[in-house]
Amino acid sequence: MAGRPAESPDWASAAVDAPGKESSPGARPGAVRAPRAVRPADAPGGGDAPGAPPREQAAKPASAAATTSHLMGMIRPMLTARKLTKVYLSGGRPLTVLKEVTLEVEPGGFLAVIGPSGCGKTTLLGLLAGLDVPTSGTVELDGSDLAELSEDARARLRGEKVGFVFQTFQLIPTLTAQENVQVPMELRGHRGTDAQGHSDDDPVERAKELLARVGLEGREHHYPAQLSGGEQQRVAIARAFANRPRILFADEPTGNLDLATGARIVALLEELNRESGTTLVLVTHDQALASRARRTIHLLDGAVVQDGGAAA
Ligand SMILES: Nc1ncnc2c1ncn2[C@@H]1O[C@H](COP(=O)(O)OP(=O)(O)OP(=O)(O)O)[C@@H](O)[C@H]1O
Ligand SMILES: [Mg+2]
Repeated sequence: MAGRPAESPDWASAAVDAPGKESSPGARPGAVRAPRAVRPADAPGGGDAPGAPPREQAAKPASAAATTSHLMGMIRPMLTARKLTKVYLSGGRPLTVLKEVTLEVEPGGFLAVIGPSGCGKTTLLGLLAGLDVPTSGTVELDGSDLAELSEDARARLRGEKVGFVFQTFQLIPTLTAQENVQVPMELRGHRGTDAQGHSDDDPVERAKELLARVGLEGREHHYPAQLSGGEQQRVAIARAFANRPRILFADEPTGNLDLATGARIVALLEELNRESGTTLVLVTHDQALASRARRTIHLLDGAVVQDGGAAA
């Protein structure tokens, strides 16, 4: 579109981390919790901003459990969806595919969304990542209300903080595997050192490293058409991690993989969740993968029918 700034493709991811401290006390990695009761100062770091009252001044909870829940209430969620509804017009008739879905994911959380084909999982993921807009309801991603952002601003936010693995991969057919993984880094450009101490990656080296981590060493120079479905899926996963996203949305990331390769991808996702604090929101039919999540939400006909809750 004329006059628009160069825009990252929808899937492009990056982690231009705000000086937030996801490692702040109480930021239990992997935690997903019920809608919060207390909202911290809207400063990066959720209450750890300079000038915030020292934690010691807060009333002292009676037990360790109380301390955890007390501090949990002070963490700004990475993702909050409230009453998300999506209605498509299908043959001129309205088709409600999501009905008032509400959920919240902590920084570093790991949420799995499961449910039968056609229940609205992909639609939900698209709304949560800001790729599509809801008919009603709101999504807040790392403190930004997506409805208040222009399309360009939403695209920038995605480019800075979000990784996305599409159910259909969406690799660029004219680029090799390695070039596909490099693209988000090239689009992001120079950013210096981020809050986690990562300086700019060399795109070629990082692309090679990520492809090796998904088991594709030796396939770097293959074009998508020269790769199997499962191999393309793994390139898409490597690409989603290229810019060290703060939150990764993945739609059936093991859907085309055999058991062993699927397990390898699950391990990689968990490693990134644990080591980099990357928040994970996955759609899956894979029970093995869902069982690794800290929380599972079961969708049926566009509504949450079961909420597995956070692991103890
Ligand atoms: N653009 C659209 N226009 C009209 N209907 C749509 C559109 N996109 C999705 N739908 C319908 O919305 C429903 C939910 O689709 P969605 O892709 O979210 O399901 P899903 O749970 O991801 O399914 P699967 O497990 O098969 O991937 C389906 O009935 C689908 O036909
Ligand atoms: Mg789907």
